[in-house]
Amino acid sequence: MAVVTFVSYDGAKHEAPLADGQSLMKIATNNAVPGIDGDCGGEAACGTCHVVVDPEWSERVGGSGPAEEEMLSMNPERQPTSRLSCQMDVSETWDGLTVKLPEFQM
Ligand code: FES
Repeated sequence: MAVVTFVSYDGAKHEAPLADGQSLMKIATNNAVPGIDGDCGGEAACGTCHVVVDPEWSERVGGSGPAEEEMLSMNPERQPTSRLSCQMDVSETWDGLTVKLPEFQM
């Protein structure tokens, strides 16, 4: 089974199964991963699904699109590998992906 690991701000790790065609935000919320809110339901309109992709995975998972970029540009906790997890359509080939969660979603 392919797995993604979410690392909370306090270092706690939460694993969830990766399923082709789902967004990373949905995987987090479906598996009760704390720290991902997803308030807008995945429309790139709230920014409450912010994750910071492990730099080793950044190229493989790709960069942000225009709407995502607009939301991220307003986030003071943005990092170079930040993404909105609702805009990341996962692949089971991403087995081992690790993303960090910010202290607060805003
Ligand atoms: Fe709202 Fe991702 S769920 S921006």
